[in-house]
Parts: sequence; C-alpha cells; structure tokens
Amino acid sequence: MFHLWENSQSRFGSEHYNIKVVGWLQELNYLPFLEIFVIALPILFHAGYGLHILTSGKSELRRFPFLHNGFYWLQRLSGIGILLFLLAHVGMTRIWVMWEPSIKQDLFGHMHMLLNDPWILSLYVIGLLLSVIHLGNGLWTMAISWGVTVTPRSQQLSFYAFMGLSLLLAAMGLHGLWGFLQ
Ligand code: HEM
Repeated sequence: MFHLWENSQSRFGSEHYNIKVVGWLQELNYLPFLEIFVIALPILFHAGYGLHILTSGKSELRRFPFLHNGFYWLQRLSGIGILLFLLAHVGMTRIWVMWEPSIKQDLFGHMHMLLNDPWILSLYVIGLLLSVIHLGNGLWTMAISWGVTVTPRSQQLSFYAFMGLSLLLAAMGLHGLWGFLQ
C-alpha cells in the first residue's frame, strides 16, 4: 500500500518524485537492512510458503462452480503471476540501479522510459491488478481463518469491503503509472 501511494506521487512530476519521494527513501537510516529484512525476506518467505501450500490444496471447481472456489484458484494463480512480475520488476528497478548507479538520480526518467514500452506497461498493469486482488482476497480469507468473520453475513460484507479496498488500490496504482507517462 505504501509503495503504491509512494508511486502515485509521480503525478507531481520528475523533480518532486526524484527529490521528495525517492531521495527521502534512499537516505533512510539502515536502508540495506530494511530492504533485506522488511521487504525481501518476508516476500521470499511468503512466496515459498505459498508455493508449498499450492501443491497441497484441493479445489473442485468443475463440481462446485462457486464464486469463492474461483477466487481460491485466482489466489494461487495470482501468487505465481506476482512472483514472475516481481522478478521482472525488481530486475528492471533495484537490480538495474546496481549496474547503473546514475539511474538513481532520475528514477522518474527511468520509469518513464520503461513504461513507454506498451509491453512493459501491460506487464505493470497486470502485475498491479494481480497484486491488489491477491491482497484483498488474502485479507478476506485471513479474517475467516482467524475467526474475525464467522457468520455468512459478515463474510459476505467483508468480501465487499476487501474488494473495495482492492479497487481503491488498483485506482491509486493506475494513477501512479499514468503519472510516469506524462
Ligand atoms: C504498479 C506500479 C509500480 C511502480 C510504478 C513501481 C515502481 C518501483 C520503483 C521505481 C522501484 C525502485 C525503487 C528504488 O530502487 O529505490 C520499485 C521497487 C520495488 N517494487 Fe515496485 N512499483 C510498482 C508496483 C509494485 C508492486 C505491485 C509490487 C509488489 C507486488 C512492487 C514491489 C517492489 C519491490 C519488492 C521493490 C524493491 C524494493 C527495494 O528493495 O528497494 N512494486 N518499484
């Protein structure tokens, strides 16, 4: 959520994005530690655990063609899609910056250059949509398994609430992508 909010500031232009958004983040104390322990390792753990349960679950979509049975599969497929998107995305940003440190001075220009390619833009739109659906549906199932939403009514209402959150995040993410194209 923070990352999408951060990137939605692309609409203020390159100077604001490079100095106020990226510049501020790059000067954070203990940045490499935060990147490894707060971003990379939790994502890798989540991906590894996700791949493990992917092989152990069963859903008979043909016999029980219910909405949430469809979402059960969407959750798993989106997980794989996000993993592939992240490999490409982190490669095109964080890893690329390691080879070419000058990009750091103008990450806005770098994203502008990348997103002007329709293939890369499509990859970002798909990666973004998969991520927000995965988050919304993941929070919905988490509320059930943690005993927060127990009744069918509360599960139905929370589903609308979490899908609303997904839609909001999708709009903010698309707004951010749009800002880089200006
Ligand atoms: C859709 C619009 C998005 C844009 C414009 C965008 C942009 C960026 C940029 C510019 C960086 C490099 C930051 C730096 O090197 O300081 C970055 C890093 C990263 N992004 Fe995104 N991103 C987007 C979506 C996502 C999504 C949906 C995810 C997660 C599912 C994600 C995960 C990451 C990760 C893990 C990093 C590496 C962070 C680090 O180690 O510093 N991004 N992104």
